[in-house]
Amino acid sequence: MWNWLLNPFAAAAPPSFSAVIAWHGCFMALAWVVLMPMALAVARFYKITPGQDWPRVSNSFWFRSHRWLGYATGIATVVAMAGFLWRSEPLILWQRPHAMTGWALLALALFQVVGSLFRGTHGGPIDQITRKPVPPERWPGDHFSLTRRRIIFEYSHKYTGYALIPLTVWQVASGLQDAGAPNWISIMAGLWAVILAAAFIRLQAAGRCIDTYQAIWGLDETLPGYRREPIGWGITRVHGPYAAKPLTWKFARGKRGDQAADPLTRRSTPDRKGDIAG
Ligand code: HEM
Ligand code: HEM
Repeated sequence: MWNWLLNPFAAAAPPSFSAVIAWHGCFMALAWVVLMPMALAVARFYKITPGQDWPRVSNSFWFRSHRWLGYATGIATVVAMAGFLWRSEPLILWQRPHAMTGWALLALALFQVVGSLFRGTHGGPIDQITRKPVPPERWPGDHFSLTRRRIIFEYSHKYTGYALIPLTVWQVASGLQDAGAPNWISIMAGLWAVILAAAFIRLQAAGRCIDTYQAIWGLDETLPGYRREPIGWGITRVHGPYAAKPLTWKFARGKRGDQAADPLTRRSTPDRKGDIAG
């Protein structure tokens, strides 16, 4: 049993195993097994945080965390590849499946980071720097007005992000296999994948994936972003505090009675407060 756990799955470890590969595997695991799932979870399920007085108050926790975790993923990925670029041997491009899909994953990750820089302006009734209300003529912005630029960003960023999930699973599994990693590492990686999947299903079923536009700008359905359905899948959009459809998220449900009694939630957005980003 112990021997089996300590041995690699493949009969013989490949000759390519080296300190460079160990370094590569550790930093890629940090980036794509730890940091990126955290980045995805905050962006998807923590647009409204537990205890937040939404929709009166918005909160940029998800955005700041997602952005910095995204950058951290990028940095750890560059560190993981540094050994290959440093050494004198030529790069492996398509000769091994892991390397071929690895370059594709790197290209998509670069697209995510660079694409996010082109998502346009934020807009909205609160100045992002001073956090003070601004006059209505300054409200238009790519996100607030839901311009074509923002729509393209949301489609491309979200669907590329989802495509990266199965690619990452394959990449880690094939990497461990190619490196001749001991079975216990593969078992731990498998268990981690099961834990992440279970947490995702739980948070999704609890209705925690709230529409970004609503999370930021509240429930006023006259705002420009309400002219289309949220982009992506499995997203909860609450149709006004008096809507029949309840919010399944327990924190939001707790606030629902207060919302109905509170005219602020139905009034125009300058009354809302909080730090805003996205
Ligand atoms: C999930 C993110 C990962 C990405 C994007 C990735 C990407 C790459 C790329 C592009 C190469 C080719 C570099 C070259 O030799 O020129 C490579 C090679 C390699 N990687 Fe990864 N890798 C990842 C994870 C892992 C993990 C977790 C391991 C396990 C230790 C691993 C093990 C290897 C090995 C053994 C090679 C040498 C070529 C081969 O046998 O396929 N990789 N990787
Ligand atoms: C490797 C890097 C990245 C990956 C793989 C990634 C992936 C994702 C994914 C999968 C989502 C959708 C979450 C959901 O299901 O709702 C998302 C949302 C988002 N990401 Fe990233 N992301 C990365 C980096 C960044 C960076 C650096 C920024 C910088 C600003 C950023 C900005 C956003 C924004 C604003 C959203 C929310 C879009 C919306 O709901 O309207 N991302 N990201």
